[in-house]
Amino acid sequence: MNRQAIFDLERPLLQEFERDPKGKRIAQILADFAGSKSDWKDYALFAPKCYTRNLIARNEWFELLLLCWDAGQESPIHNHAGQNCWMTVMEGEIEELQYEYPSGRGKGELVSRGGKVFAQGKVAFINDEIALHLVRPSNGKRGVSLHLYSRPIETCELYDETTGTVVVRKMAYHSIRGSLVAS
Ligand code: SIN
Repeated sequence: MNRQAIFDLERPLLQEFERDPKGKRIAQILADFAGSKSDWKDYALFAPKCYTRNLIARNEWFELLLLCWDAGQESPIHNHAGQNCWMTVMEGEIEELQYEYPSGRGKGELVSRGGKVFAQGKVAFINDEIALHLVRPSNGKRGVSLHLYSRPIETCELYDETTGTVVVRKMAYHSIRGSLVAS
């Protein structure tokens, strides 16, 4: 059986955003892809220091990233810069912890909304109207997730859980369409 090329995902995703800017069918497209035989493992990249962000596709509507999480790695608590974020699990289980979006900056400890674990093939959705979140692999194992941001995110806000202090981070990639980015 032919493997589906991960780079070929760009076209159906783009067609869906051109049809419906809210992307009603995006979750289904990602779930179908996660359940298919694909070459995504050829582009998975793990690093000892932090999870990696690997760019698969980027255009005016979205960016598509393969995120590789070693056991114990996690994202900071962050927002999504006004954009929509879909995440599907390619390998392992991925946990999402949500936090209330604070009404003011640096206003003390963030309020937790608890967490949810997503199994392989499941799709999560978040934006700033829903919550802040932190993402990490579950069960002490590594995980891989596919994230779609519409539109692409240049910078996002990172939140300190205890103090609520915010810093702005410029988003970076560890690889772009399979080529390592020099650090
Ligand atoms: C990231 O994109 O680096 C974090 C994961 C997420 O926002 O879903």
